Amino acid sequence: MKVLIVGSGGREHALAWKLSASPMLTKLYAAPGNPGIAQEAECVPISVDDQDALVAFCKDKLIDLVVVGPEAPLVAGLSDALRANGIKVFGPTQAAAQLEGSKGFTKDFCGRFNIPTGAYGRFQTAEDAKAYVRQNGAPIVVKADGLAAGKGVTVAMTLDEAVSAVDACFDGAFGGAGAEVVVEEFLDGEEASFFCLCDGRTALPFGSAQDHKRVGDGDTGPNTGGMGAYSPAPVINAQMHERIMREIVEPTLRGMTEMGMPFSGVLFVGVMIGSQGPKLIEFNVRFGDPECQVLMMRLKDDLLVLLEAAADGQLAHMSARWRDETALTVVMAANGYPADPEKGSVIRGLDQAGDGVAIFHAGTARKDGELVANGGRVLAVTATGSTVSEAQQRAYAAVDRIDWPGGFCRRDIGWRAVERETRQG
Ligand code: AMP
Ligand code: GLY
Repeated sequence: MKVLIVGSGGREHALAWKLSASPMLTKLYAAPGNPGIAQEAECVPISVDDQDALVAFCKDKLIDLVVVGPEAPLVAGLSDALRANGIKVFGPTQAAAQLEGSKGFTKDFCGRFNIPTGAYGRFQTAEDAKAYVRQNGAPIVVKADGLAAGKGVTVAMTLDEAVSAVDACFDGAFGGAGAEVVVEEFLDGEEASFFCLCDGRTALPFGSAQDHKRVGDGDTGPNTGGMGAYSPAPVINAQMHERIMREIVEPTLRGMTEMGMPFSGVLFVGVMIGSQGPKLIEFNVRFGDPECQVLMMRLKDDLLVLLEAAADGQLAHMSARWRDETALTVVMAANGYPADPEKGSVIRGLDQAGDGVAIFHAGTARKDGELVANGGRVLAVTATGSTVSEAQQRAYAAVDRIDWPGGFCRRDIGWRAVERETRQG
């Protein structure tokens, strides 16, 4: 099969790495890819939002399957454009991608199909949103309705913070994404991510993970796209897995079908596990980054077979098997991230990663024969181990062999799971 991956991050590098292991693969392309992905695929300089050029490329190269990595092209309707041209694609339609593209849509959907989530209101004016905030008090969560590259959410611990967040949205801090605002109940508990491959009818559980969103050790400092992750998430035990499937995933698939927009692709369920069980924080309609990196390290089965089965509506016949190990990834970011990451610093020493370690490129470029930083999150250093502590030690040992004074990472990725492991002896 000839496959095109759309995207250029660490997530897409991990997908390319895993797809490359498939005996069914004859040729792998990536648009636009990055220097890490180029080790696995032929990179073509087409932007993820150039739908016409992507369709033309697929027709020209007779691509058998397109795998779309990021959310923006899905929300913009790339899957629909490809399908309209007879090209098979792993990823939801534009209508189904509303599960990530509109927080208000998703909250109403949860209400209609009885999916557990926090109480909320949807607002078109700052005045109404602020009245709701004052009525309910802090802590409270303010969210721009649309896609805001992970920056549209404020978990406000005080009323003042919530009011400023509402003003920021309506003043255009997130462009069109903030023209509508969702204000939501603050949920307490432990956060985890749960993944399913979906084909419209069937949801195949596809692993769990926990992410670290704050930039600094001890979960301090500003929010980021994710500074590290590990899989599986210990908080999602067998009973919790069953509840998430029954209370969230299954009604979601049924509901989307009932609304005439069956969901296919990856459903990424962000859940808060609290005293009353799982509550939905958000859906994403693609793999997480860096959660994908840890999932791919643990997946035993042929990813290409699974993604094609999802695209073909054949998941009912499939299973996914996982290595009985923990995978842990440490994101290395360019100095200055997330506010103002420095570009261009030289990165060396990636060839000494060590056994059982994979270094996925997220934001790199080649310049004058050297590898340089070319984004905020730059590398995802990923290792496996029989325990979380072992995976963590191996990942940091690999980090320490990388020669990159222009970058930094958190030193405590996995702390919660390591603590849990230590307690359980
Ligand atoms: P999102 O962009 O929806 O993933 O939100 C970013 C982060 O904000 C989430 O990963 C949570 O850590 C936090 N968050 C979002 N909604 C809530 C909520 N209702 N209660 C508590 N934390 C939340
Ligand atoms: N790491 C969180 C996300 O991909 O949304």
